[in-house]
Amino acid sequence: MRIIVDADPGIDDALALYYLRAQPDIEIVAIGTVHGNVPVEQATKNALRLVERLNIEAPVAMGAAKPLAQPLMTAEDVHGQDGLGGYAGDEPATTHTQESAAEQLANLARAHPDELDLLAIGPLTNVALALQIEPRLPDLLRRVVVMGGALNVPGNITSHAEANFWHDPEAADLVLAAGFEDLTIVGLDVTMASHAPQEWLEALPLDCYPRRILGFYADFYGSFLGKKGFVPHDPLAAAILAQPHLASYHEDRFAIELTGRYTRGKIVADQRFLAPDSPFGRDVAPERTKARYAVTADHATFLDQLRHAVTQP
Ligand code: BDR
Ligand code: CA
Repeated sequence: MRIIVDADPGIDDALALYYLRAQPDIEIVAIGTVHGNVPVEQATKNALRLVERLNIEAPVAMGAAKPLAQPLMTAEDVHGQDGLGGYAGDEPATTHTQESAAEQLANLARAHPDELDLLAIGPLTNVALALQIEPRLPDLLRRVVVMGGALNVPGNITSHAEANFWHDPEAADLVLAAGFEDLTIVGLDVTMASHAPQEWLEALPLDCYPRRILGFYADFYGSFLGKKGFVPHDPLAAAILAQPHLASYHEDRFAIELTGRYTRGKIVADQRFLAPDSPFGRDVAPERTKARYAVTADHATFLDQLRHAVTQP
């Protein structure tokens, strides 16, 4: 499996890279960065720091600095001022490539048609821009897994919206409308249920880097949820990309609410039980290609795999 990662590192983005690095049958071909948890310059430095730390041999391209249609909003309260819980450390020794993350994605997809998978674990701005550069992107990528959305659970950044989709709702909607044949959405419906308790964290060796960066993130989740531990959103999406059978799915046509006063950024689907011959047509995006939305996952297996991945030398 050869994959392109689009990310906004980000503490759980970092864990996703640890997870992927530990999979013998996965090659990370390239990384693109995007605004989201922190400004894109910081996300890019963090991506470079992580590929250096993890010996991942992949180019890092800097992506979009702001959403398509709304002002930039970041989440340092969740990930720390430096995006890695105060442990970003020294300046990276390497630099990002000259092309943008959107250009990198379009160029790689053209060069390797139907060979590459995309794991998008930040706002979807780069993917939307890549669709403008290369409208055939849905035919060129083999599979796309996106972390985002809160379908039948509350949001995490507003009452109804999940952070990645809320950071760029227009981009997320363009991606859902693009016609990807093999699109999986890993939203809060499954990631919140993969909550890792404090004991999971405390079982990690003290000198293990993920344990250090997770301190800040776990403090945030402790105050957000009222229970200690943390939610591994992005590594669960990585795990579902690597092993689709870890999850079960609801297939539907999805859209992002762009105008709702309380619901902007929320993923929606028409989930009414409509008989096949019902006179009521489906309301939500009936013309769109169906996507798979993860509804359950094997959390115990995943958390075991993640522990193994973050403690691997
Ligand atoms: C998503 O938002 C970010 O805070 C995380 O990195 C993850 O990608 C979870 O809603
Ligand atoms: Ca992320």
